Amino acid sequence: MTTFHIETVGCQMNVLDSELVTAELLRAGYVYSPTARGADILLFNTCSIRKHAEDKIYSALGRLRKSKEARPNRIFGVIGCMAQKEQKTIFKRMPHVDLIVGPGQIAQIPALIRRIENGEGPLMELSLERKGQSRKAVGDSYVFFDPMREPTARQTSCMAYVRVMFGCDQFCSYCIVPLVRGPEQSREAGEILAEVRQLVSQGCREVTLIGQTVSKYHDTVSGTRLSGLLEQCEKIAEETPLERIRFVTSHPTSMTPDLLCAVRDLPHVMPYFHVPAQSGSNAQLKKMHRGYTVEQYRETIQAIRETVPGAAITSDFIVGFCGETEEDFQQTYQLVEDCRFKNSYIFKFSPREGTKAWELYEDDVPEAEKKRRNNVLLELQNRISEEDNRPFLGQTVEILVEGPSKNCGKSLPVVDAEADADAADADEDEAETLSKTPEELPGEFPAEDETSTAELPSSGVLPATAAASCSASGVLQLTGHTPCDRIVVFDGPVELTGTIQKVEIQRTSPFTLYGKLV
Ligand code: 5AD
Ligand code: SF4
Repeated sequence: MTTFHIETVGCQMNVLDSELVTAELLRAGYVYSPTARGADILLFNTCSIRKHAEDKIYSALGRLRKSKEARPNRIFGVIGCMAQKEQKTIFKRMPHVDLIVGPGQIAQIPALIRRIENGEGPLMELSLERKGQSRKAVGDSYVFFDPMREPTARQTSCMAYVRVMFGCDQFCSYCIVPLVRGPEQSREAGEILAEVRQLVSQGCREVTLIGQTVSKYHDTVSGTRLSGLLEQCEKIAEETPLERIRFVTSHPTSMTPDLLCAVRDLPHVMPYFHVPAQSGSNAQLKKMHRGYTVEQYRETIQAIRETVPGAAITSDFIVGFCGETEEDFQQTYQLVEDCRFKNSYIFKFSPREGTKAWELYEDDVPEAEKKRRNNVLLELQNRISEEDNRPFLGQTVEILVEGPSKNCGKSLPVVDAEADADAADADEDEAETLSKTPEELPGEFPAEDETSTAELPSSGVLPATAAASCSASGVLQLTGHTPCDRIVVFDGPVELTGTIQKVEIQRTSPFTLYGKLV
């Protein structure tokens, strides 16, 4: 019996990839180990978005060197974005690593592991680099890997991500994603819909269509855009127990009227938009190569508010990007103040080699100033989130029950993601690997290191484990989300998982609504 464990950091794409690799390894006869420490095969599914995310992987790998000496047959692998970006450097810095696999090659993982077991390692499989090759050749080297889905490989089997796009062509000047995830490619609508039907037949009640720029979805074979895809998912929901359809992450330049109307008119499509602004300053937006002005961004937000009243909108911001002045920052502050996002995910700029910003601009905002701006913006957003949650007091909301809350058995309130990050740091010395990260963030690829107003993942503990640890009476602290993606915590029987329930809200905080079952 050979056991495996996958440590996942980063965005929804990575969460989905880890689920798919887990399913494939289970099919190949490997056994899932809930802890890293015991596993014979330990894979890190990695993120390159900020340097800190990579540093954490290197230090986790460094701590495993001794373990390899003691158990030479253990297999260590680095998969995902950092594998594609760092390539052989990982072998150079960490010679005890056996396997490096980029995000476009993960279908090969079980076969590669077999070869390593047969003594062929170390092995590396990557997609083509973007520079100096045709777009088509590079695109073809990223192999879609969305095979048969396996509900036991998911933490919350009633909810699933469905990849509708791969890669990105925006080339925002700060961003490494187009280089590590390859050219933007949309999957065929028919394939996606078949996957949604399969997920529903497995008990899934909510699907989230994911793509780095999901609002730009375009199946060139059938001509289907995102609005059309949502309409077809809606038809599935009308015929099956599928309850909810979501999509992330949108790009501000493609929030077209047909998309907004689809969200307004399709009852199973949830009124929630994640539309990163990144900055409120036109000078910075231009340097970031975002493709819009702040006035255009404001118009987009206004169009969403007018077309889908009551919709929740969330955003991402980068503070301390190259040359950001106090005045630029004040414009960002004003944008957050005016747009009243449900949440903002705020990141300190981290220069990434290979990007345009690395080539062209100086990372000239001191770290302490980045931190200050981060905190100032965070404070503002927290106030807004608090104010916007307050009117829910006394209201009854509909939620899809996701299972026991991560803090099941602990006292309320649920701690925030920053506390989680602090806890992760504190663990570092003794922990063999990375600590769990806020996987639920809706950013384009939020890494584990900096999160702002995000809540903890509600699915951090497998339902069975949590149930065993805190149920005597059969009643647990459960969690779910409202249609506009607000997290709700309440007590109830675990059997409600996967059903829609009504909860009356009795207390609110910036990130969480607390209530009782109606
Ligand atoms: N530094 C800091 N934040 C970044 N992001 C992307 N690249 C960087 C970088 N180099 C942020 C953007 C994106 C979010 C998921 O991560 O805000 O929307
Ligand atoms: Fe693409 Fe988003 Fe990165 Fe811009 S920030 S390059 S849209 S992944």
